[in-house]
Amino acid sequence: MTLSVSRRMAAVTALAVAGLLASAAPAATASPAAAVAAPDIPIANVKAHLSQLQTIATNNGGNRAHGRAGYKASIDYVKAKLDAAGFTTSLQTFTSSGATGYNLIADWPGGDPNSVLMAGAHLDSVSSGAGINDNGSGSAAVLETALAVSRAQLQPTKHLRFGWWGAEELGLVGSKHYVNQLPAAERSKFSGYLNFDMIGSPNPGYFVYDDDPAIEKTFKDYFAGIGVPTEIETEGDGRSDHASFKNVGIPVGGLFTGASRTKSAAQAQKWGGTSGQAFDRCYHSSCDTTTNINDTALDRNSDAIAHAVWTLGTETPVPPGDVYENTADVAIPDNGAAVTSTVTVAGRTGNAPAALKVGVDIKHTWRGDLVVDLLAPDGTAYRLKSSSSSDSADNVIATYTVNASAEAANGAWKLRVQDVAAQDIGKIDSWKLTF
Ligand code: TRP
Ligand code: ZN
Ligand code: CA
Repeated sequence: MTLSVSRRMAAVTALAVAGLLASAAPAATASPAAAVAAPDIPIANVKAHLSQLQTIATNNGGNRAHGRAGYKASIDYVKAKLDAAGFTTSLQTFTSSGATGYNLIADWPGGDPNSVLMAGAHLDSVSSGAGINDNGSGSAAVLETALAVSRAQLQPTKHLRFGWWGAEELGLVGSKHYVNQLPAAERSKFSGYLNFDMIGSPNPGYFVYDDDPAIEKTFKDYFAGIGVPTEIETEGDGRSDHASFKNVGIPVGGLFTGASRTKSAAQAQKWGGTSGQAFDRCYHSSCDTTTNINDTALDRNSDAIAHAVWTLGTETPVPPGDVYENTADVAIPDNGAAVTSTVTVAGRTGNAPAALKVGVDIKHTWRGDLVVDLLAPDGTAYRLKSSSSSDSADNVIATYTVNASAEAANGAWKLRVQDVAAQDIGKIDSWKLTF
């Protein structure tokens, strides 16, 4: 793959030199990566990183936990690889439980600074073990994908950023710190955040996060292409660093091969492995070592990461758009009448976009109670979310895409929210339309 990249670029250069691409050449170099397929990520390289992380743990009291020497040594290992490959790295520090924590951020020079695609993984382990599946696996695969970007000298349309988070095991501390210190203007530049936490489980499932539809589709397409069935990730939405990004309105997605939950007979049927046994029997324990990895799962997921970075990173960035927002709180009465919050759009011409983005931030103690609609200025309702007695999570923090091309852009748009079941309550915190 590296070869075909350089060959293609050489061909473009040769044609340009020959004058055959006269005016076409600049256009070709402006989006050079558009036709480049992702490389195969060498599993041997990913496993070599895992061996290094295991050695680091072994030499530092058996773990790579926040506040311990093994964590900082893990950061130093990853940083040195990225620095040597031409990334611009920065170490971000924070304090948690009285100890200094570290996030490592690596930027690949180039791409549209107003459209950032980020991939990340938590690098800390729990203190009971080396954390090779949780989460050496995601850390090593993201590292090797970044190194593949460098080997290919990829020229993405978007700006690529990679991140390794500290203190995830203490409650997503590092990734929360990262998003909290980002100014709002920087947050809005993220086209997406891709999270990889546990992707080499020894009795693996193939789970895709059910979040941003475009990101989810990119991963599903990859697995469909290699004939591997996937399921939606349900072992704890919000239990990894993507939640930190999602909570500030950044589109997220990711992959997961399972933790302590048991593999069902149907899952063993389609994926192989052992039914009635946990996806990872060594989850958060001392046996999470280099022997606690399924190579096939690690290989497929590593290639899926590269596929997503290449596909999403080389597509045409969507311009930021004009944002219309209402940040006033509106209380939502328990099991009561619908309430609305209004956003007035003025000064535009024609109709609303076919992909109108509706960003919703509703705080609520049981989101299943809520029915949420977007009302166009003429009163037409677009259902964003239905109620569901089994949807026990809290809050509705999401960006919906609505085909509003039949609606005039200008006028008073409303978010309508109704709580249809007793006990749990909340409020509309803010919502926005992006034209
Ligand atoms: N992040 C969890 C941990 O480190 C593991 C986990 C559980 C997880 N459920 C998840 C990760 C769902 C991603 C998605 O302990
Ligand atoms: Zn963990
Ligand atoms: Ca209620």
